[in-house]
Amino acid sequence: MFGKIIGTGSCVPEHRVSNQELSGFLETNDAWIRERTGIGSRRVVDGERPEDLALAAAKNALSAARISAEELDMIVVSTLSSNHMLPSVSCLVQRGLGAKRAMCFDLNAACTGFLAAYNTMQAYINLGIVKTGLVVGAEGLSRITDWSDRSSCILFGDGAGAAVLRSDPEAEFATVMHADGEKGDALTCEFAYALEEGYPGTVLPVAPEEKKRRTLIRMNGQEVFRFAIRQVPACIQELLAQENRELDSVDWFLLHQANARIIEGAAKRLGAPIEKFPMNLAEYGNTSSASIPILLDELVRDGKIRRGQRLILAGFGGGLTWGATKVTF
Ligand code: COA
Repeated sequence: MFGKIIGTGSCVPEHRVSNQELSGFLETNDAWIRERTGIGSRRVVDGERPEDLALAAAKNALSAARISAEELDMIVVSTLSSNHMLPSVSCLVQRGLGAKRAMCFDLNAACTGFLAAYNTMQAYINLGIVKTGLVVGAEGLSRITDWSDRSSCILFGDGAGAAVLRSDPEAEFATVMHADGEKGDALTCEFAYALEEGYPGTVLPVAPEEKKRRTLIRMNGQEVFRFAIRQVPACIQELLAQENRELDSVDWFLLHQANARIIEGAAKRLGAPIEKFPMNLAEYGNTSSASIPILLDELVRDGKIRRGQRLILAGFGGGLTWGATKVTF
C-alpha cells in the first residue's frame, strides 16, 4: 500500500525582489534575466526563518487535508538552508503543529530534496510503519546566496511547500532516482563554522575572502544547465518505460523550477506539449526543494490539478542529484 496526497500547502515570504531591484546593485537587467532564465522576481525572507515558512506551509497542508496534527505519524523536511542543525526543522514543525505522535527527521538532496522526502514517506507507508505523514520542502536560500555574483544570485528565492500523505489502497507510486557525486563541484556551499579557525576539522586558517567564497552558493551554471537538460527528460523516459506508460498518459509534469529554458528543453526532448509543464518561476525563482511542492499547491488550489490525474514530479540539482516520481493525485 502507498500514500495518496490528501492536502497541500505552501508559504512564501511577503518581501518580493524584482529583477529591476537587482539591477540597482548588480550589472544586470530585467531583459537578460528573463530571457536566460524566465525569472521576473523572487521572494526573500525578511525576518522569517526557513522553519517559519515550513510550519506555515505545513499548517496550510493540514487544513487542506482536514486532519489534526495528532494524526501525523511522521514528518520529513527537505532543506539545505535551515537555521538549525539541532533540533531538526521537522522537529520544530512538529512542535509548532503539536504533532506529538510524529517521528521526525530532515534530509538534504538539494533541489531533488522534495522527491527524496516524498519517496521516503512512501517507503515508510509501504512498510506499514506510517499511515499519515507530512512532507515539507523549505528553503531560505537568500541567506547563502552571494548577492555580488550576478551569474547565480539572480536565480534563487525562498519559500516552503508541503503535502500530507495517507495510506490508501488505490494510491500508486513509482520512482527513479540518481546521483553523480563525481560532478558535485558544479554546485557547492560549505558550512561557515567548519571554516572557522580553531574548529577541529579545519586544517588551515581560511582567509576571509576565501571563506565568503566557500560558504555561499557557488555554481558552474553552464555545467548544471547541460546536466539538467540531458538528465531530466532521460529520467522521465526511464520512469515511463519502467511503468510501461506512454508519455500522453501523463496529465502534468511538475519539474523543479530552476530555469524556463531547462523546462522548455525537457518538454521538447520528450516531445510533450509545453502546456503540460506549468511554471511559476517568473514569480518565485528557484526555491530548491520547495519549488515542486509550492507549484503543486498552487495548481491544486487553482483547481488545475484534479483528483485522478496522473503527474510526474521531476527534480534535479546539487550533488548532483536527479529523479522522477509518479503521483496519481
Ligand atoms: N546579467 C547580465 N549578464 C550576465 C549575468 C547577469 N545576471 N550573469 C552572467 N552574465 C554574463 C556573463 O558574465 C557572460 O558574459 P561574457 O560573455 O562577457 O563573459 C555572459 O553573460 C554569458 O554567461 P553564461 O554563463 O554563458 O550565461 P548562460 O547563458 O549560461 O546563463 C545561467 C547563465 C546561470 C542563467 C545559466 O547557465 C543557467 O541557468 N544554468 C543553470 C543553473 C541552475 O539552474 N542552477 C540550479 C540548478 S538546481
